[in-house]
Amino acid sequence: MATNRTFTMLKPDAVEKGHIGAILEKINASGFRIVALKLTHMTTQDAKAFYAVHSERPFYGDLVEYMTRGPIVAAILEKDNAVEDFRTLIGATNPADAAEGTIRKLYAASIGENAVHGSDSDENAAIEGAFHFSEREMF
Ligand code: PPS
Repeated sequence: MATNRTFTMLKPDAVEKGHIGAILEKINASGFRIVALKLTHMTTQDAKAFYAVHSERPFYGDLVEYMTRGPIVAAILEKDNAVEDFRTLIGATNPADAAEGTIRKLYAASIGENAVHGSDSDENAAIEGAFHFSEREMF
């Protein structure tokens, strides 16, 4: 995947609360092009693997349970400086610390249910995109 791409998930809380449309609209309005998109439901095995880098952290079990309790929206987004600009758009991991107008400030309830994921590097964006999408699902 090119380095002008990032990967995102609208997490189960955002889907449950009916925020898919509003969040995708904000992503589009912020200059990101959607190049892959799906509604999907991660298995426990999927979530454990996706978040394996955090397996030693105390919240790992809660994170896996949360991410598997309902469907998510997975997407690959394209824009110049996509990884960094998307992290700015979503705001701090803890919504209490997120800047006004960011997606987490608007739609997230807590650090444990923070509405949206954004890759933290170009390398991870490519790995995470490939975790959810095949080549023929990316446009
Ligand atoms: S980040 O965004 O990766 O820099 O943040 P980090 O603190 O390293 O968190 C890694 C992922 O774990 C989630 N997280 C938590 N989940 C549940 N409870 C607590 N306390 C908690 N703290 C962090 C955080 O949302 C990150 O998930 P993603 O999907 O990458 O946003």
